[in-house]
Amino acid sequence: MKKILLASLLAISTLAYTQTEKKEIAIIPQPLSVKQGTGYFNLPQNVVIAAAVQKGLAQTIAVLKDRLSVSAGSKITVTNTSPNATIRLVLNSAADKAIGKEGYQLSVTNKNITIKANQPAGLFYGVQTLLQLFPKEIESTIPVKNIKWEAPVVEITDVPRFGWRGLMFDVTRHFFTKAEVKQFIDDMVRYKYNLLHLHLTDDEGWRIEIKGLPKLTEVGAWNVKKTGYFGTFTPPTADEPKSYGGFYTQDDIKEIVQYAKERFVDVLPEIDVPGHSLAAVVSYPELSCTPEANQYRVRSGEVIMDWSHGAPPIALVDNTLCPANEKVYEFLDKVMTQVAQLFPFEYIHVGGDECPKNYWEKNEAIKGLMKREGLKSMEEVQSYFEKRLEKIVESKGKKFMGWDEILEGGLAPSAAVMSWRGIKGGIEAAKMKHDVVMSPTTFAYLDYMQGDPIVEPRIYASLRLNKTYEFEPLPDGVDAQYIKGGQANLWSEQIYNMRHAQYMMWPRGFAIAEALWSPKEKRNWTDFFSRVEKHFERYDVAEKKYAPSVYDPIFTATKTADGQLKIELDKEVDALDIYYSFDNSFPDNYYPKYTSALVPPKDAVMLKVITYKGKKPVGRMITMPIAELKIRAEKKK
Ligand code: ACM
Repeated sequence: MKKILLASLLAISTLAYTQTEKKEIAIIPQPLSVKQGTGYFNLPQNVVIAAAVQKGLAQTIAVLKDRLSVSAGSKITVTNTSPNATIRLVLNSAADKAIGKEGYQLSVTNKNITIKANQPAGLFYGVQTLLQLFPKEIESTIPVKNIKWEAPVVEITDVPRFGWRGLMFDVTRHFFTKAEVKQFIDDMVRYKYNLLHLHLTDDEGWRIEIKGLPKLTEVGAWNVKKTGYFGTFTPPTADEPKSYGGFYTQDDIKEIVQYAKERFVDVLPEIDVPGHSLAAVVSYPELSCTPEANQYRVRSGEVIMDWSHGAPPIALVDNTLCPANEKVYEFLDKVMTQVAQLFPFEYIHVGGDECPKNYWEKNEAIKGLMKREGLKSMEEVQSYFEKRLEKIVESKGKKFMGWDEILEGGLAPSAAVMSWRGIKGGIEAAKMKHDVVMSPTTFAYLDYMQGDPIVEPRIYASLRLNKTYEFEPLPDGVDAQYIKGGQANLWSEQIYNMRHAQYMMWPRGFAIAEALWSPKEKRNWTDFFSRVEKHFERYDVAEKKYAPSVYDPIFTATKTADGQLKIELDKEVDALDIYYSFDNSFPDNYYPKYTSALVPPKDAVMLKVITYKGKKPVGRMITMPIAELKIRAEKKK
């Protein structure tokens, strides 16, 4: 009996060993140069980390220590120098021009590991790469046995393509705590993002304490908790408690900024004005052009805009600050003074997007302003506001940045533009010699659905992983010096919790990371996706959430010449099989495999599909009503 037990134990450990035996290198984002040698470095039980200069390396060492000691169980000693060190972190005494401020060289031999960089950030990124060379179990938060803790022998030289590698986190539509923001930072730095854009104010909440303006957070940070499809909620009634939300105190902000800095992340604050300002208006109605503003409440996800005529929207409540009111500029001066002190980053983002003009159009004070200043259109009124705000921001020693609407009616003299309505605005601004960050909806809006709406939480648009991977921040014919980089935006209207934020972020966040870090010539979807799958395995070990939507089929419904419904199923990635049923039962790999367009049986009500990779189900069981496909086919006509 004992022998059998021993034999099966051996079998299990051999299994574990062979499973980690395949040592393909699967780094995201893809480094500049990877030269794999032969053999492996074996992580010893006692690891000595030598870091010649400690300054700025605390988190780099902490990450290494944490990951190597928790899952692999190694005992870690850190010294200043050691000839016998297992892992050496070296800051170059003479800068190596090839790797710049954030690049690194990583050398793994069968004896030891060396990471060299010009600056601490490079060592931090080198460590992120190194950890991706170890087996996926390195991601475990508990000790893992029977693993060969090997990393392949390799020489890596790496340097980012862009200096601005951003992620925007909308903490207004749903509030995310300080601890959750830190978790967001932890997740982003693994993929070498270096900028966190915090969208701090909007119609649904003002999230930052401003001293001397207490109502912004006493009143403006709170609304009524609603669940369902944000944007369609019933308006709050007087008796519903306004207890949902929250804000960051100035101490919280300092802590977040410090936490980010230690991980080489800059924090870009966004105060979104003059539109998207309902929370501020409800707190201080005198900032509005509209007298009824004193009856308004912070939005809880009910309808406040009519988008049926396109942009700008028609506001049903006036969510704007009044450009004709001097108190608005005094307010913004106060806000910007404190924001500038709290955030060391060189830019302040002032929003400027989607500002409705219909209340301004009928306002006497605005008419007076137009006459006085010679302004001919509502766009010029907004431009007047932006130019005054630019002066305020600059008077605090900061650079001014806004969404691409700030181009309308004339761009403020030194404004930087974040191009979101495609890349058009970014190109226009760069041609006018303004700095630009590209974050177009078409490639970089991570709030969009990543699969079919029958499965995904509903949003008005879709963006699948393969499209995200096509993100190119530097358009042809544009002077590269004005394109600072790019970023992906995670708006949180439909994101109620952190697990779902992770689901929306990954794997599309991998694709954007690669677009921003890796050489353009190395972009290869098939190769990228093979690495994504390895990172899915890592996420499984780490118990982090990601979207498996990339495995789900793409449904196309049209009509045949004789008027029958025709269903085509497409795949985002090759080497998958789709199995289906029309009889309401749950298909598996013993069911019919999809090979060509389907015409459903006359009385069928459901198409059920599931995707397999070999014998393993990878997609979700999708139940698609035939009636839904018929509606889609009608729309396509
Ligand atoms: C935006 O998505 N309104 C910038």
